[in-house]
Amino acid sequence: MLWVKSLHIVFVASWFAGLFYLPRIFVNLAMVPPESVAEHERLILMARKLLRFTTLLAVPALFFGLWLWLGYGIGRGPAAAGNGWMHAKLVVVALSLGYHHACGRMLSTFVARRNTRSHVWWRWFNEVPVLLLLTAVILVVVKPF
Ligand code: HEM
Repeated sequence: MLWVKSLHIVFVASWFAGLFYLPRIFVNLAMVPPESVAEHERLILMARKLLRFTTLLAVPALFFGLWLWLGYGIGRGPAAAGNGWMHAKLVVVALSLGYHHACGRMLSTFVARRNTRSHVWWRWFNEVPVLLLLTAVILVVVKPF
């Protein structure tokens, strides 16, 4: 079980490294002057590769998490039986997947040069995975409910 949990933590950390860095590229893309085509293309290429890599890392992160939950039964069962933390964590997981998906959609708007949001907006957007990771780690380590 500890091998599975170790791999879960390693892939979760790697997945979130991608979720931290991808919106940072969006901040830079939002600051590129319209006439700097080469700069824009370079950042788009970086973002595409990073999104593909981040998606590849999410799969084992979720697989080992499901193995811990459904395979070993950790956190399985009703919230009233002390598993509220796992229920809340699954909400955070769903939000993380939603954020990941949104990054893919946002990248398409940059590719089509249809972004209308400022770099300031993207800086706030970039803080969301910090809150998601913080919440998930507190829930799974402290198990407050
Ligand atoms: C389908 C998604 C996921 C499932 C089913 C899942 C399930 C689990 C389970 C059952 C454990 C073992 C808890 C224990 O031994 O006390 C665990 C550990 C952990 N999970 Fe997840 N997890 C998922 C996704 C995530 C995500 C997205 C994060 C971070 C954002 C995360 C962070 C952690 C951490 C840090 C641990 C280690 C806790 C410890 O060592 O006490 N997990 N996960």
